[in-house]
Amino acid sequence: MKTENQDFGKSKYITKQEGSVKFFLHETDNNAIPSKSMNVFYNERMEINRDISILAIIAYNKTISQTSLVVVDSMAASGIGSIRLLKNTNNVEKMYLNDINPIAVELIKNNLELNKIDPEQAEVLNKDANLLFSEISRNSVLPDVISIDPFGTPNFFIDSAFKAIKKDNGLLCITATDTAVLFGVKPKACIRKYIAKPLHTDYCKEIGARILISFISRIAHINNLGIIPLLTFYSNHFIRIFAMSFRGNSKILNDLPKNYGYIIHCNNCEDRSLIIENLLKVPQKCPICLSEKHLSYSGPLWVGELHQKSYLEELSILNEKFNFKNKNRIRKVLKFALNEINMPISYYNIHKISQQLKLSSIPKLEDIIKLIEENGYKASRTHFDFISIKTDMKIDELKKVLKQNEKLN
Ligand SMILES: C[S@@+](CC[C@H](N)C(=O)[O-])C[C@H]1O[C@@H](n2cnc3c(N)ncnc32)[C@H](O)[C@@H]1O
Repeated sequence: MKTENQDFGKSKYITKQEGSVKFFLHETDNNAIPSKSMNVFYNERMEINRDISILAIIAYNKTISQTSLVVVDSMAASGIGSIRLLKNTNNVEKMYLNDINPIAVELIKNNLELNKIDPEQAEVLNKDANLLFSEISRNSVLPDVISIDPFGTPNFFIDSAFKAIKKDNGLLCITATDTAVLFGVKPKACIRKYIAKPLHTDYCKEIGARILISFISRIAHINNLGIIPLLTFYSNHFIRIFAMSFRGNSKILNDLPKNYGYIIHCNNCEDRSLIIENLLKVPQKCPICLSEKHLSYSGPLWVGELHQKSYLEELSILNEKFNFKNKNRIRKVLKFALNEINMPISYYNIHKISQQLKLSSIPKLEDIIKLIEENGYKASRTHFDFISIKTDMKIDELKKVLKQNEKLN
């Protein structure tokens, strides 16, 4: 990363580069541990979030909303994400870059000027995001894309975002960084913030993502809307949901029973099963180890698909075209995300189970997937955890497969 000093009025800025875009940052923020106490927030490690967001908006433009876009970056900080988007596509008609922090707003203006962005194309605002969404909702033209990228939970902004977004085929890009809450380390906080019980298990990342989507979807329903998750992206302690809005009460009502459910988890043998629709069918003991004492649950969860196949395929094409820094990691994530479609909820940590079984070495995940499929079950990798696999095989059978593989090698 290139840096150079620059005097800019009273503030001392440093120039940095992300992708092909140069931008200013306060010198005192350079190399600081990312936190709220920075003059203006910037986290180098979140570059992958910006990379995937740029690809996601361009893929949405190519496959869903084929018009020039109106985009609202409601928490823009330095503005780097939106400026990179503007530099990578000609199809943004209007971009609103907003931040509640006036120092950020000044920096955004300087960064737009540095990058010679037409002020007609990019408007800078200094409002609370909820107030901004509320004002936008009264406009005759509603934005195609809204991005919400807060510190911690986005829960507080979702209702007003649904009021502001284009009702049919709008794109919401929502980040949550309160992973300790969503992943069940702070279960009570999760119940308070997302009205759902989490589960601190090996597959808590997927459960956390499904709690977040369930919450977003329910707030959509309150606004007479539904959502279709296009991409659910977990990386480096954040979850980012890219979801499309739609109107239509009959589709919403039809989809209701199949989209929400609960997972039952046995803390003794790690068996898990899904409860959809009929909550009275909750098992009183584990079907595998028969324990009555070790069952716990999580939910309500989104139990529908996490991604749309054709959208992921377009994203994969774009990822190869744009040479972003995280291209290889994004390629891997998209490949595993494609594998996740039509697979059961949850995944098994093969490293952990191999150690529990005292296997002589950790098997190759591809070998285990092949063996599971040969036994007549489904199996795939998962983007949530590169050392885990998804399968509809039960835990006792999976252990047999791992032992069988050990004998074969
Ligand atoms: C995590 S940072 C955003 C990072 C930025 N999207 C990026 O990629 O660099 C969160 C930003 O939201 C802003 N913010 C916090 N609360 C806000 C609110 N209620 N309305 C608007 N902006 C807010 C903060 O000032 C901060 O700049």
